[in-house]
Amino acid sequence: MIEVEFVLPDGTRQRAFGREGYSLMEVGVRAGIPGIRAECGGSCACATCHVIIDPAWTDRVGPPHAAEDQLLDLLDRAPGSRLACQVRLKKDLDGLLAFAPAAD
Ligand code: FES
Repeated sequence: MIEVEFVLPDGTRQRAFGREGYSLMEVGVRAGIPGIRAECGGSCACATCHVIIDPAWTDRVGPPHAAEDQLLDLLDRAPGSRLACQVRLKKDLDGLLAFAPAAD
């Protein structure tokens, strides 16, 4: 299992676990992270899975692909912004830290 940690808007941290190949969105939804709504189910169409990757992890996570990048441009984007459904867990992301948005 790969462990990730979400920082919630109030500063509390919540750990979640997933197998290699799961998306960060799937792990967040299963863990009940309130700000990850994932309305499109992971098809890179809704941006309701927006998270911000901690700067210490952005190189390992890698950059967004072109379609994700266009969707991120519609948001209040920050350095490290990613759509969690487009981030696949892999062994070297064990311990990943991501900031979750506020729930609407
Ligand atoms: S779940 Fe819709 S863009 Fe990620």
